[in-house]
Amino acid sequence: MREKQTAVIVGVNINHQADFPYSMKELENLAAACHMEVVGEMTQNLNRINKSHYMGTGKIEEAKRLLEETDADVVVCNDELSASQIRNLEEELDRKVIDRTMLILNIFAERAKTRESQLQVEVARLKYMLPRIIGSRESLGRQGGGVGLKNRGAGETKLELDRRKVEAKIAELNKELELLVLQRGTRRSKRKKSGVPLVSLVGYTNAGKSTIMNAMLRKSHQSQTKQVFEKDMLFATLDTSVRKIKLANHQPFLLSDTVGFVDKLPHHLVKAFRSTLEEVATADLLIHVVDFSSPHVENLINVTNNTLKEMGIDQIPTILAYNKADLAEAEFPAVKSRSVYLSAKQGVGIDELVDVISVEIFKSPIRCEMLIPFDDGRLVSYLNENANVLMTSYEGSGTKLTIECNQDDFEKYQQYVI
Ligand code: GTP
Repeated sequence: MREKQTAVIVGVNINHQADFPYSMKELENLAAACHMEVVGEMTQNLNRINKSHYMGTGKIEEAKRLLEETDADVVVCNDELSASQIRNLEEELDRKVIDRTMLILNIFAERAKTRESQLQVEVARLKYMLPRIIGSRESLGRQGGGVGLKNRGAGETKLELDRRKVEAKIAELNKELELLVLQRGTRRSKRKKSGVPLVSLVGYTNAGKSTIMNAMLRKSHQSQTKQVFEKDMLFATLDTSVRKIKLANHQPFLLSDTVGFVDKLPHHLVKAFRSTLEEVATADLLIHVVDFSSPHVENLINVTNNTLKEMGIDQIPTILAYNKADLAEAEFPAVKSRSVYLSAKQGVGIDELVDVISVEIFKSPIRCEMLIPFDDGRLVSYLNENANVLMTSYEGSGTKLTIECNQDDFEKYQQYVI
């Protein structure tokens, strides 16, 4: 078992931001997710970040005292730091210094399961490293010229070599990633052709997206193997999973679960995960899941909305799912226009959520009767899978179905409509 590192967390509050205490609490959770035990906290109000040391120089002495008192191994800062800020702080404090971005990247690296997400995280990590290579002490030494490659003067620094190596690695990983993205694109266009609408779960990390998906899968009588990973930890889900939900009295739809958002999600990560998040961009409807029991509901909603905006995904119709209502003082299940109050854990409010989803994506399903010849049994099973079959009877010439279906299917099987 790896021994837990101890950490002191440090935050600079620029211009008295109201959500600052929350972001410190979150930093503590992120550190915990990174197997660190937070043993001390230090904050400072400033008008701007100190360019050389992140915190004001006067605070450095206080930090030294706190480190001595707590005997912490690491200092974790609440913002993304420059190479020189990290180096200067490490020199002053004689401790390893980690910033918020590195913390998130570490968590993502640990959670990434599929090749695609592993590549995405690795690309983001290398891009973060690139301008910071200068900071590592071993990079500063001069490299002797004789590496056997032409056009490299003896004076070339190891730093340049390191940079080039990292850049080459990024290019190599991106190439592999492109191939996977292409495959994902093919799957996506196949799905588009199938005409089954896609609903995407989005929201802050730990809001309960996976729990909602599993609750729907259970109702949809899907096997255990289709269930997605849900856990009380930040960023449990990194890989987008798409599942078909077919509930009684409803037309089927596809539901996708995806990576959760967090305040100050590192820019490189958002970029690296763009292909995964494209799944969200092509959705017909978003379910914005919110932890309603959090005292920072507004803040969580804003961060998710801003992240979606950053990715250019703010045009898709959205339903708000106020989850964990069992922990909040709220009446549930309840529906207020496009908001649903529920407890995914208790499975209460899921039916209501599905009803609202259905109304949104199948605004006006077409109700009709079809008479399908007995030798076209495959169409009957297709409609049972993909339409809402209200009644089935067997006539002399075939199977008669009363159904609610989408426009596409109605037109495609027009010849059977009676
Ligand atoms: P990420 O993968 O980090 O994006 O998280 P997520 O949004 O998928 O959250 P997940 O479904 O993994 O749930 C996070 C934690 O919240 C788990 O421990 C769940 O059991 C818990 N949880 C989810 N829904 C509810 C709820 O309605 N009530 C309560 N009390 N807990 C819930």
